[in-house]
Amino acid sequence: MIDQYKGFVFDLDGVLTETSKAHFEAWKELAAKIGFELPDHVIDEVRGISRLESLDIVLGYNKNPQDYSYDEKVALATQKNNIYLDKIKAYSPNDLAEGAIELFELLKDNHIGIALASASNNAPFLLKAMRIDHYFDAIIDPKTIKNGKPAPEIFLKACEMLGLEPRECVGIEDAEAGIESIKTAGLYPIGIGKLSNCEEVYPDLKALLDHLL
Ligand code: BG6
Ligand code: MG
Repeated sequence: MIDQYKGFVFDLDGVLTETSKAHFEAWKELAAKIGFELPDHVIDEVRGISRLESLDIVLGYNKNPQDYSYDEKVALATQKNNIYLDKIKAYSPNDLAEGAIELFELLKDNHIGIALASASNNAPFLLKAMRIDHYFDAIIDPKTIKNGKPAPEIFLKACEMLGLEPRECVGIEDAEAGIESIKTAGLYPIGIGKLSNCEEVYPDLKALLDHLL
């Protein structure tokens, strides 16, 4: 299928590295500090969702998020990010998903553009830490996105930055919100992990690579 497409647009957390767990552990620790327990299933609710929107989901398991002022929310989100940063501070190429380098090389050999469509403001740090930043032809800055996933904006912007039409690109995601974003934008969706809203799903990146080879 690789010769049918000119661009591959990747999500980061949960696709190129297993940071989804670190994000969720940080939310759980924040909840514990506030004084409540966050149920484990919430990991799938916050997958792909921006920091402040995730905070509202998390706080909603305790009381109405509207009970907090904007400034209080920003302070809590900063606290969560500091917990998260501590968890990823020692990230290295060892934390990269198996098969990622081979997949990037395969795409480069086939002159296929590579873009990153991550909602995370920590993405540039992680790409550098895992030494894969040089593979990307385009990296979307989530601060420039008005409507996060599941809205199509971030994937549309990635295609635009690659100079390609969405139908010429594949989007790879581990989040249902991300798959919705890919579908609405008009790219071909490929899921990683367990997804109910995507037809083509692989357990991990290595399995996708094996399929493409
Ligand atoms: C997404 C993660 O990639 O980025 C979410 O799946 C996270 O869990 C979001 O909330 C924003 O990340 P950050 O690092 O800017 O807080
Ligand atoms: Mg993800």
